[in-house]
Amino acid sequence: MADRLLEIRISADYPNKPAVLDDCSLEIGRGEIVGLVGKSGCGKSTLSLALLGLLAWRGGQVRGSIRLNGRDLVGLSEGEMRKLRGREIALVLQSPMSALNPALKLGTQLHEAWKAHSSGSSEACNRAVGEALENVSLPQEPAFLQRYPSQISVGQAQRVLIAMAILHRPPLLIADEPTSALDIITQSEILELFSKVSRKLAMSILYISHDLLSLASISQRVAVMENGAIVECSPTMKIFRDPSHPYTRQLIRALPVIPQVFAAPAR
Ligand SMILES: Nc1ncnc2c1ncn2[C@@H]1O[C@H](COP(=O)(O)OP(=O)(O)OP(=O)(O)O)[C@@H](O)[C@H]1O
Ligand SMILES: [Mg+2]
Repeated sequence: MADRLLEIRISADYPNKPAVLDDCSLEIGRGEIVGLVGKSGCGKSTLSLALLGLLAWRGGQVRGSIRLNGRDLVGLSEGEMRKLRGREIALVLQSPMSALNPALKLGTQLHEAWKAHSSGSSEACNRAVGEALENVSLPQEPAFLQRYPSQISVGQAQRVLIAMAILHRPPLLIADEPTSALDIITQSEILELFSKVSRKLAMSILYISHDLLSLASISQRVAVMENGAIVECSPTMKIFRDPSHPYTRQLIRALPVIPQVFAAPAR
């Protein structure tokens, strides 16, 4: 890997449970999109929360090292992690409507997200919000910012959350099942948006999903997790053409195929 941004080697557990992450290792390059796939309960969200220093909120704890730009995040205080969240690592979750505050206008929420890490003028804030909205292809006019979450679609809400996540141009974005609440067309639009944002802002993305096909469409490499460990991490093409781990082969065999009866006749 040319230029490494993130290097993880961790184990994690919750009280009275065997380790959920068991010597889990992963590297992400600068500007790279890495897809993380694995079955429900294998530890994907535990890994994303551990990266953000949020596992304690679920009652869990982490051992090992999480190196971001060479700095180990394990053991940082809550105050130090708070400065880092949103500015160096941002998170986009699955349910956009529950992640937005229903009682606050979109503009207020975007401005608050900006002020969490910047103390510049209101012009600078408006400029940053405008650029973020433009990057996620949302209207930049005041009327849109005056709306409440209930007045926009779920797809637009996910775009607002992505705008919030990229507001401070963090080098790393974690997207944990960001499209599973969306219809299939909106899903593909949001996937394309992640890809565009990564290219434009040179942002690395850890893209977590059950859905190997959609994840593969935007990832340069795919990491496969089984029982809290990464069992294979390879370039996307290799995962499909020459999977090396039995679990990866099982995943590929389980992919849906269009039944022959629906295939277009040869012309
Ligand atoms: N607060 C908690 N206390 C105890 N066990 C937990 C807690 N949160 C998660 N777990 C357990 O840790 C394991 C991993 O959970 P995690 O949410 O990381 O899985 P996941 O891969 O994200 O699953 P999904 O694809 O369904 O989102 C599961 O067995 C889950 O039951
Ligand atoms: Mg999860």
